[in-house]
Amino acid sequence: MTTVIKGGVVVTADRSWKADVLVDGEKITAVGPDLKGDRVIDADGAYVIPGGIDPHTHLEMPFMGTTTAETFESGTAAAASGGTTMIVDFVLPGADGSLVNAVKDWHRKADGKICIDVGWHVAVTGWNERIWREMAEVVSMGVNTFKHFMAYKGALMVEDDEMYASFSRCAELGALPLVHAENGDIIDELQKKFMAAGQTGPEGHAHSRPPEVEGEATNRAIMIADAAGAPLYVVHVSCEQAHEAIRRARQKGMRVYGEPLVQHLTLDESEYFDKDWDHAARRVMSPPFRDKHHQDGLWAGLSAGSLQAVATDHCAFTTEQKRMGLKGFPSIPNGTGGLEDRLSVLWTRGVETGRLTPEEFVAVTSTNIARILNIYPRKGALVPGADADIVVWDPKLPKTIRAADQMSIIDYNVFEGFEVSAQPRYTISRGEVVWSHGRNARPRAGHGVYVPRPAFPAASRALSTWKELNSPRFIKRDPRNIPSGV
Ligand code: URP
Ligand code: ZN
Ligand code: ZN
Repeated sequence: MTTVIKGGVVVTADRSWKADVLVDGEKITAVGPDLKGDRVIDADGAYVIPGGIDPHTHLEMPFMGTTTAETFESGTAAAASGGTTMIVDFVLPGADGSLVNAVKDWHRKADGKICIDVGWHVAVTGWNERIWREMAEVVSMGVNTFKHFMAYKGALMVEDDEMYASFSRCAELGALPLVHAENGDIIDELQKKFMAAGQTGPEGHAHSRPPEVEGEATNRAIMIADAAGAPLYVVHVSCEQAHEAIRRARQKGMRVYGEPLVQHLTLDESEYFDKDWDHAARRVMSPPFRDKHHQDGLWAGLSAGSLQAVATDHCAFTTEQKRMGLKGFPSIPNGTGGLEDRLSVLWTRGVETGRLTPEEFVAVTSTNIARILNIYPRKGALVPGADADIVVWDPKLPKTIRAADQMSIIDYNVFEGFEVSAQPRYTISRGEVVWSHGRNARPRAGHGVYVPRPAFPAASRALSTWKELNSPRFIKRDPRNIPSGV
């Protein structure tokens, strides 16, 4: 059966024009005027955009002594209701340290539950021969990104020599290293200092993670990536110090990408000084929300191209879980939600204010992400042959964000009370309407599939042995290992 999405303005990363979109089964088959199909979806007065891709989520993830409360089912349903048709979730190795087992574990959690498509990033949280070997196997399982935490000392944090070795391995496997860039040693010191001084509440979280620790780590990660001949993707860029390092690196021709979160673009550190402990703790995440002046630079980076992707880092804990840190902020589980509201909030605060064009909005919520993660044009594009992941985006469909109305199973929403002007009229995932405003169509567990992401073109030289890679030498930069374009 064919479906035609009729009467809308098609918006892609490079242009907008009045056209219909024809879908046959799971794929787009045509984009153009006066198309006919067995079924018609009305897009009159709306934009027709590629489905959103959230490149940074943590569903059902064990972290800081608990597990994120958002499940694969609830999280992907929430995403669909907000116009997101694919997420890329973070796989953490379990107690056995195996990357391969961790990927299998994530498949077990997601299979049959997900309502939209998913992909994986895999975290490298230490360094040994097994991890080195399994990285190649994980790439063959459809993962082309490896995450490195420079914070969370004593838990997930990696040292510089481990990062250098892992980045080098990424370079030869055609994978892209990701970093959580904060200096974990300094944070550890500052946490102890503020706790000893009696500053035990959520405001201590902000004070112990100043922008300088993010700027330093971002610079360091960029230099290590350059030495290893690897590209780099910096997750949750929250401040000018980190953005400046990325901007400078890109001007020098380094392939470095920056991902701000919709939370950092719209919420600031005053949240941590709220008199209500629960309110403040619910917003504890790393890096923390920043002083307002950082936001202008992040917005500018999105339109100027020094920052490429807007994510949510959806890592949602209930209020009850947050209360694990009542006696001291270092024990508050780090993470906030947002995947349901990313597009509406970004449109309202970005496009409606003139900071972003509709095309830039599509680029940073979908197309750039698909290109950086090497799934373009299957995802992130409205062209014949692409997956029919499409949103009929109604710019005149306002709502007030309320936790009471959300699909997410969390008992609060960090955007509570935000007035947004736009929402999906329909969300279509691989040809199926998985959400319609008014809730006639609702997300269906089991509809989503895993989307493997191929490695970037491999280097011509042979892969190193474990011994070679770990000798103190620098690997010559090979441009064929570097994703292109964005
Ligand atoms: O606070 C955060 N960001 N929690 C999720 C884990 C991470 O650091 O990305
Ligand atoms: Zn992080
Ligand atoms: Zn994260």
